[in-house]
Amino acid sequence: MNNETLYNIRREMLESRLDTLCREREVPQKRLLEAMRYSLLAGGKRIRPILTMEFCAACGAAAELALDLGCAVEMLHTYSLIHDDLPCMDNDDLRRGKPTSHKMYGEWMALLAGDALQAEAFYTIADCGLHSAQIMEALKILAHAAGHRGICGGQLLDLDGVGKELTASEVFTTHAMKTAALIEAACELGCVAADAGIYQREAAKRYGQAVGLAFQIRDDILDYEGSAEALGKSVGKDEKSGKFTFVNLFGLERCHELVRENTDEAVTVAAETFENPDFLIWLANKLAGRNN
Ligand code: IPE
Ligand code: IPE
Ligand code: MG
Ligand code: MG
Ligand code: MG
Repeated sequence: MNNETLYNIRREMLESRLDTLCREREVPQKRLLEAMRYSLLAGGKRIRPILTMEFCAACGAAAELALDLGCAVEMLHTYSLIHDDLPCMDNDDLRRGKPTSHKMYGEWMALLAGDALQAEAFYTIADCGLHSAQIMEALKILAHAAGHRGICGGQLLDLDGVGKELTASEVFTTHAMKTAALIEAACELGCVAADAGIYQREAAKRYGQAVGLAFQIRDDILDYEGSAEALGKSVGKDEKSGKFTFVNLFGLERCHELVRENTDEAVTVAAETFENPDFLIWLANKLAGRNN
């Protein structure tokens, strides 16, 4: 089976499990579930949960063992997108090719849908059926990536930096926290599901950090020169809103090099550590050249 086919199979498996986990019910809070599902099932690339499943497989276990951990990561990621788009943050109207949550449901509902998806992510881990030691470990990893050490801290640096000229190290830290932390966690969670040893876990984290950094630099490039149609979200917003990104720090050419360098680092780690690194290598390279 080629890598593209495997990617699509995993993505379909994830879509279907997310649909089951967040089923709409005839309950008083049905509208909240509807808003959660609106963003969650809007068809993102699903790269984080695919990484979770793939690292589980790379460590020698069945990828499906990590399915629910992957779904938890995707729920958390979707919450971060809903809140990132709010008027008080990036104020965006388009996400995953559709109107953003607050455009569709209003601001307080979008806030609640994000909150509820974040809570559901942790519930999904607690209820995933792995051993309790694995569950404890997984909760810790996701909480670490989500809170002040990861996404929330990174979002603070991102918004606090508006209108300022940041240093290279400040921009690196922002990107590492707001984006790479969750991608790193996604990779490590796959190893936890497989009960892998510390050597494989550390390698998975290094791969995740490098791919995560490349991913956000590519995101900055695409905001500058990509198309809203391909991306399913607005473009040109970073410059308009005074965000200091990799593009204005280094220029486009150096950004392309940085994406390449970080991708190569991830590829090397995967090749050196895992017996079957093919998919991980293919995915890192695919993301480096992505247009959506
Ligand atoms: C968008 O993430 C936010 C960033 C961290 C750049 P993705 O590009 O993975 O968004 P989806 O999940 O495919 O919509
Ligand atoms: C995304 O950064 C970071 C998080 C959602 C945590 P951006 O603000 O650049 O992401 P997009 O471009 O809106 O997807
Ligand atoms: Mg943002
Ligand atoms: Mg944004
Ligand atoms: Mg962006």
